[in-house]
Amino acid sequence: MRKKIVAGNWKMNTLPQEGAELAKNVVANRGEVCSCVNFIVCPPFTHLSMVAAELKGSDVELGAQNCAAEEKGAYTGEISAQMIAALGCKYVILGHSERRQYYGETSETLNKKMVQAYANNLTPIYCVGENLQEREAGEHFNVVKKQLEEVIFNLSEEQFKNLIVAYEPVWAIGTGKTATADQAQEIHAFIRKTLREKFGAAADDCAILYGGSCKPANAAEIFAKEDVDGGLIGGAALKAADFLAIGKGFAK
Ligand code: 13P
Repeated sequence: MRKKIVAGNWKMNTLPQEGAELAKNVVANRGEVCSCVNFIVCPPFTHLSMVAAELKGSDVELGAQNCAAEEKGAYTGEISAQMIAALGCKYVILGHSERRQYYGETSETLNKKMVQAYANNLTPIYCVGENLQEREAGEHFNVVKKQLEEVIFNLSEEQFKNLIVAYEPVWAIGTGKTATADQAQEIHAFIRKTLREKFGAAADDCAILYGGSCKPANAAEIFAKEDVDGGLIGGAALKAADFLAIGKGFAK
């Protein structure tokens, strides 16, 4: 059975104390949602210690939003996979479209980040997704396939078993415009088929999350689709009540 996952990507929001408060509220009210739903929060690096302290003793897990491509050394301003793992992270978001777009992350960089993540027992949450122009040109399948082939296809079978994929159409991120449930299912099924071609039946166990203006009002419809195993949530993850309400969207 595939895991049901609701992961919050806080992006560059909240001050450390506010982040700790948010995590505290998630933990305090987590019991409202089925224990079958796995919650993950991914705060900014600067909040990881404080948030880890709030999550202690709960089943809400911690992730980071990025990690360095190198192991350690003279890389001013970078944060290594080993550092985030030492602070209690179990996950790391890699290949988010904002990193690809604003910080020039390429498949080459992402392959190196993947190596670092696995070397430190982190589960990558690998993001794929097309922009509006690519969607309108009908290129979305090719774009997503390339993003998978250039990075995920380099993983070993063992590594692939510890991977979460997030499909985030760039045109739906922070825009209030969500992919329809059918659009999400169509491309999630395509992602799974692509993964199956390389990794066989193991692809049936890989959680594929939807991200892009996912909120309590639309989560249930999207999560009801066969190949959607949860969500990667931006804006709505900044309010504990909304974040948890999204988790109530699982009916299956
Ligand atoms: P929004 O939910 O704010 O659209 O962001 C989605 C996202 O980018 C999560 O990684």
